[in-house]
Amino acid sequence: MITRPGVITAAIFLFLSGTSIATPSQDGSDWFKKTIHTINYQLTKAAGIYSPGMNPRSVRPDGTVKLATVQDWTTGFFPGSLWYGYELTGNTALKEEARKFTLGLDTVRHITNTHDLGFMLFCSYGNAFRITGDSSLLPVLQEGAAHLYARFNKKTGTIRSWDMGEWHYPVIIDNMMNLEYLFWAAGQFHQPAYSIAPATHAATTMKNQFRKDFSSYHVVDYDAETGKVFQKVTHQGLTSESAWARGQAWGLYGYVMCYQYTRNPKFLEQAKHIASFIMHHPHMPKDKIPAWDFDVHNALDGAPRDASAAAVIASALLQLSTEVAGGQEYFNYAEDILQSLSSPTYLAGPGENHFFLLKHSVGAFLYNSEIDTPIEYADYYFLEALKRYGQIKKLI
Ligand code: GLY
Repeated sequence: MITRPGVITAAIFLFLSGTSIATPSQDGSDWFKKTIHTINYQLTKAAGIYSPGMNPRSVRPDGTVKLATVQDWTTGFFPGSLWYGYELTGNTALKEEARKFTLGLDTVRHITNTHDLGFMLFCSYGNAFRITGDSSLLPVLQEGAAHLYARFNKKTGTIRSWDMGEWHYPVIIDNMMNLEYLFWAAGQFHQPAYSIAPATHAATTMKNQFRKDFSSYHVVDYDAETGKVFQKVTHQGLTSESAWARGQAWGLYGYVMCYQYTRNPKFLEQAKHIASFIMHHPHMPKDKIPAWDFDVHNALDGAPRDASAAAVIASALLQLSTEVAGGQEYFNYAEDILQSLSSPTYLAGPGENHFFLLKHSVGAFLYNSEIDTPIEYADYYFLEALKRYGQIKKLI
């Protein structure tokens, strides 16, 4: 979420106010403008329905909306979506809502038992501070970063992900996403150790969490005293040896981001290898929205897709495309994903889908939890990817 706020073009303003001229655009961006229109509608409606601190998370099979409390790892995504929505549309009402829903997460600053502080605080307060520069937001960010840093263990060379479960010291591939918060906090709060921890975590994870083909294990369980690896298993994937789709997306995004902050070429190489695994996977469907696990054998005909994984992949590839010479293949792939996600198959029409943007994500298939449903983090990374795309194409 590094990129700076964009300047909204007159074309998008005109489109949102319904006064655009209906001629196809020269730059092929009609789908983009249509998507922005839907985003404006859905986010405005959603913000009117929910209350700060009880944010929309997903939709249950009975059609009711599952809410995220302030303790929920997904709680930061709705405020973050509103911030990106504001940047994409220029709608200042969304900015006001974004601020309200961000401040509803004030008490997250007291949470110490999870690595997800990155998702919870950096997507909400982090975006709020980036966009507004309001220093009254900093104490929460400072306290949360201290709690995340406290989870770093020099013996394992990693940040502990979970305090739950039967593992000794579990580190999940998702943890790569929460490193950005510490890299940023290191500079903001003049704490150099805060950037050593995530850089060490990324190097350790590269060594212990990846297979030869650059797919990743979901969970690595460490001995906290010696740093020895006890076991490599899954929690949300099909099997311990499978490639859980969102896990591959988290890993890709994480290494692209680590390269942005450290300029360590090993992180860039790792990102390129993971991108290659994903982009050339034989089970990747034609529309480039993967099934929930790459090793689901009926992936090409009927396994539930995971739009959230696709959105994270698109956002990561767009960033990667700007980091390397000849990044066009990454850009093109991400553009294909965004066009698929913007099609009626995945993108809700205005007023549909309980005002979520994307349909068809999977939370935890084998736990029968959040299967083929809208999920807020899919929307968040979709919006971030659209913003990156719009900036690269100079549409915003
Ligand atoms: N971080 C949990 C998940 O990706 O489902």
